Amino acid sequence: MAEHIPVITLDGPGGVGKGTISALVARELDWHYLDSGALYRLTALAAQQKGIDFANIDAVADIAEHLQVEFQPAGGILLDGQEVEALIRTEQAGANASKVAAVPEVREALFKRQKAFLQPPGLVADGRDMGTSIFPDADLKVFLTASADERAKRRYKQLIEKGNNVNIESLRKEIQERDERDMNRSVSPLKPAEDAHLIDTSELSIGEVFQEVMRLYRITNKDSH
Ligand code: DC
Repeated sequence: MAEHIPVITLDGPGGVGKGTISALVARELDWHYLDSGALYRLTALAAQQKGIDFANIDAVADIAEHLQVEFQPAGGILLDGQEVEALIRTEQAGANASKVAAVPEVREALFKRQKAFLQPPGLVADGRDMGTSIFPDADLKVFLTASADERAKRRYKQLIEKGNNVNIESLRKEIQERDERDMNRSVSPLKPAEDAHLIDTSELSIGEVFQEVMRLYRITNKDSH
């Protein structure tokens, strides 16, 4: 029988803290980490760099299929050998990712690549459809939520701390537009899996959310033995 490799999926809307929590859980368990949003961000960036219009579905799907990406263990992401982490983390890059992610052919092209992250001793997978489409048999599925207001406030604080000049109203609007697109696309829309544990993070600190995910994992792990 094939070895069972455990998976924890963490899904939810943009700005909910999935990335931070997933990285903490992966470090705690010493597991691999899949940042699936980065693959959509990279696809959009690669298309832009090659001057390809997002409406050119076949060309964008081809880019997704052949992305040359290296996630550096110590941080940083190489696209065709070039460091692009800062370029893909902007609000605009997130909005572009959400656009290419609505194309079924792009999702199909990234399917196998995401599956390939499943390696021993385990995987923490962060995204929108990890529990519903990519790892439907995950050992633990978590869906994080927070109101668009709360997420806009958090993002505003982060950006201001980094010295950026931003307007909270336009941030809130961008977040709402991205939610709309991610929830209403035809393939793998953003929604909790039926068996996902919902955590509303609005009133919780990062440490509290992390502890709750670990508590859920310990319960799941005990039940399965
Ligand atoms: O998690 P993120 O902000 O890096 O994701 C950027 C966009 O990519 C998001 O708005 C929608 C898309 N995405 C997706 O469709 N499916 C995923 N599993 C992850 C991200």
